[in-house]
Amino acid sequence: MHARVAAVGGNWKMNLDLAACRTLAGSIASAARAETFGCEITLFPPYPYLPAVESQLRGTSVRLGAQDLCERPNGAMTGEVSAAMLVDVGVTTVIVGHSERRHIRGEHDALVAAKLDAALSAGLQAVLCVGERLEDREAGRTLDVVLAQIDAATASITAGRFSGITLAYEPVWAIGTGLTASPEDAQPVHAALRAWTRDRFGALAAEALRIEYGGSVKASLSADLIAQPDIDGFLVGGASLSADEFLRIVRSVEQSSLSTAP
Ligand code: PGA
Repeated sequence: MHARVAAVGGNWKMNLDLAACRTLAGSIASAARAETFGCEITLFPPYPYLPAVESQLRGTSVRLGAQDLCERPNGAMTGEVSAAMLVDVGVTTVIVGHSERRHIRGEHDALVAAKLDAALSAGLQAVLCVGERLEDREAGRTLDVVLAQIDAATASITAGRFSGITLAYEPVWAIGTGLTASPEDAQPVHAALRAWTRDRFGALAAEALRIEYGGSVKASLSADLIAQPDIDGFLVGGASLSADEFLRIVRSVEQSSLSTAP
C-alpha cells in the first residue's frame, strides 16, 4: 500500500535545445491542466532552460527541478550555480549525488553531503541518488554500497530536515543501458533503505520517505515496479524526453496509487 504520495521526475540530463524544452514542458503542462495526476511530477531541464520551462509550467502542479547545485552559497566558483540562484528562478527540487556526477565528475561522499546540506538549507527538496555499480552487485555488495552512500550523505542531517529528502535508488548498471532492474532486484534494496531510515530517523520518517527507482524506466515496466511496497515513484532519464512515454509512466503510477489507496 502506498500511503505516500508517489513522485515521478523527468531528468532531461544534457539533452534538448530551447525550443525542444519548451515543447516538451508545454505538452506535460497541458496534460497537467487537463487531468489531475495522483502523483507529484518534477521536470529537471538543463540549467539554461530553467526559466523557459518555468514559464511553461506556471499555474500547473508540475514542479521545476535542477540536476545539480554547488555546495557553496556564492563567490569565486566559476561555472557553478548556488541553491539560492535555483530558488530565485523557481526551482523547488534538486537532484544530489546522481551517479553521473559521482562516477563521471568524481563527486565523493563528502561533496554529496555538502550539496545535500546546501539544498536543504535553502529550502529546496532534494532527490538524493544512491546506487551500486555492476561489480558491486556481482560481488554481493549492493546493500553495503547504497547504505554507505545514504549514511555518508545524511551524516549531519537532523530528523527535522530529513523530510526534505526523496531517495532515488538508481543502480549504475541500469542507467541509460536499457537494463531495467526487475521488481525482485529493486524491492529488497528499497526495503533496506527504508529499514535504515527507521533505525536512523525513526518510524515516522521511514513511513513518510519516498524512494524512487531509476534506471532505464519505461512505461511497459513501470506498473510492475510501482506495485512493489517500497517503490514510491521513478526518476526517469531517457524515457522522459518523450512526453507520451513520460505521461504513460506517470499514469501507471497514478493508477497504482489509486488502486492501493486504503
Ligand atoms: P535512464 O536515466 O532512465 O536514462 O536510465 C535515469 C537517471 O539517470 O536518472
